[in-house]
Amino acid sequence: MEMLRAEIWRGDAGGAYRTYKVPRQANRTVLDVVSHIQRSLDGTLAYRFACRVGMCGSCAMTVNGRPRWTCRTLVDRVARNGRVRIGPLRNLPVVRDLVVDMAPFFGKWRDGEARFMPSRTRDDPPEMVRADEPERAAASAGIECINCGICHAACDTVAWNPDYLGPAVLNRAWTLVNDRRDADREGHIRAVARGGGCHLCHSHQECSEVCPKGLDPTAAIAGLKREVFRRAVRGRL
Ligand code: SF4
Ligand code: FES
Repeated sequence: MEMLRAEIWRGDAGGAYRTYKVPRQANRTVLDVVSHIQRSLDGTLAYRFACRVGMCGSCAMTVNGRPRWTCRTLVDRVARNGRVRIGPLRNLPVVRDLVVDMAPFFGKWRDGEARFMPSRTRDDPPEMVRADEPERAAASAGIECINCGICHAACDTVAWNPDYLGPAVLNRAWTLVNDRRDADREGHIRAVARGGGCHLCHSHQECSEVCPKGLDPTAAIAGLKREVFRRAVRGRL
């Protein structure tokens, strides 16, 4: 049987890659390879997943140097010369093996105040918003984020500056700034205009290239920069 050489990160940040030989099978995902190793070769391997269908965002790992959602990545598409190297996500603390601590990532969502602030209560009638309104279209274009952290791992600015909010949070902020059901759209602008905010983005576009949902955080951040600049020149920040 044809075998795949899978090099898997073992240990904490000071660990190393260990090689496993896994049967090569058609249509196997990278997550299938990791699961095979954990179930059949080494039960101590730690990794995370939940849905297996690209909805939960929990299976992200570094595959041959690039962050990917492993449940939707066919290993034959990414293996080179029968070899694949799988490690934990970059820019987050390694807990063990392929598991990273997502707390710093979700802490950024808190710091960036990237949460919906309802303008109506459950007793009010729902606000009617047309899907073809330009603002709604801008919000809808970025709304399908699954919090996988892949853009966060790909971003060099996140690597250089621990205060930077990062592309996922800023993408979310842009959806809220464009959502007229939100009661604090100016507050979202102020939150991303502070230190660590949108102005730190260098527009490398790595986030948009790797996002498995096809979102474009770079464009969202550019939109935030425009809105911040408009307010700054009018002295409204
Ligand atoms: Fe993942 Fe894309 Fe959301 Fe970033 S913007 S967390 S890459 S889904
Ligand atoms: Fe849920 Fe991969 S396991 S997105």
